[in-house]
Amino acid sequence: MSNFWKKINKPITALAPMDDVTDFVFREIIATIVKPDVLFTEFASADGLFSNGSEKVERKLLFSEIQKPIVAQIWGSNPENFKKAAKLIAELGFDGIDINMGCPDRSIMSKNSGAALINNKDLVGKLIQETRKGSSKLSLSVKTRLDMNPDLTKEWISFLLSQNIDTLIIHGRTAKAMSKGQADWEEIGKAVEIKNKINPEIILIGNGDIKNYKEVEEKHKNYGVDGVMIGRGIFNNPWVFEKSESVNERTKDEYIKLLVTHTKLFNDKWGKDKNFHEMKKFFKIYVKGFKGANILRQKLMQIKNYEEFCSVISSFRE
Ligand SMILES: Cc1cc2nc3c(=O)[nH]c(=O)nc-3n(C[C@H](O)[C@H](O)[C@H](O)COP(=O)(O)O)c2cc1C
Repeated sequence: MSNFWKKINKPITALAPMDDVTDFVFREIIATIVKPDVLFTEFASADGLFSNGSEKVERKLLFSEIQKPIVAQIWGSNPENFKKAAKLIAELGFDGIDINMGCPDRSIMSKNSGAALINNKDLVGKLIQETRKGSSKLSLSVKTRLDMNPDLTKEWISFLLSQNIDTLIIHGRTAKAMSKGQADWEEIGKAVEIKNKINPEIILIGNGDIKNYKEVEEKHKNYGVDGVMIGRGIFNNPWVFEKSESVNERTKDEYIKLLVTHTKLFNDKWGKDKNFHEMKKFFKIYVKGFKGANILRQKLMQIKNYEEFCSVISSFRE
């Protein structure tokens, strides 16, 4: 088995999985402008991959060569389907598979999945084992959160670090905290200490509230994490993985160009499969901070399709 994580220089950077956000198209955009070391898909239901309507789930697992190395994230609680999913994901050409053990959404937790797996050691042990059986060639990671009971986080992290995994990603919040408050990097630092004692070979990635590469370096230095995963920071700045601090502020033209590229690719790729309204959540990433941005954004929020988008943009450019 070749563990691609081990070949990357530290600090490793990764784009977080974000459902309905980090789809094929957005990943393609990020990989083209400033690419992180590793990309993750949105989470895909392991059960959904093997049931009616699997096309919708399989869409989450599309990728291109420039998005590699790429990790497919799955969620669920059925070990047999995890084995089948790992086999499929390896056949599709992914570099790694990640098990979601952190999603706080009620609909996921009620299925014994996501953050409901935290400290459910019997089931988690089986899920990891079966995923390994499904493919020996994929790197295997787990993405999780802190336990809602602070006394049990150490136990949970120690358990995961004793499992047959390559990489552990810790979002420094509990499921109850959802995305609120600040991520607890002290707890992530404690996890690094545990890892160094019991299984230093595992790659440990911290996650929560990181906004630029300077902060990636700081967390690497101050807490000893091997790398950092960034999610929402990409909304604030699509060039968030830029290493050089000397890059000037991006210009209006650069933002508009990226908006046009993203929207065109969305239309080309998903025109038949997704409603154009799904593109609208991305507009605020590109249309901000320049003269006329508010008015342009308001106009864009009212359009219904790609043709109307093109017409609004061409009159803005005139
Ligand atoms: C819109 C959205 C969708 C998300 N979807 C997923 C997901 O599918 N799988 C997952 O493990 N985490 C998911 N997350 C959590 C992020 O991966 C990340 O752990 C969290 O946002 C904290 O990192 P950040 O502060 O850098 O955003 C999602 C977060 C957001 C905002």
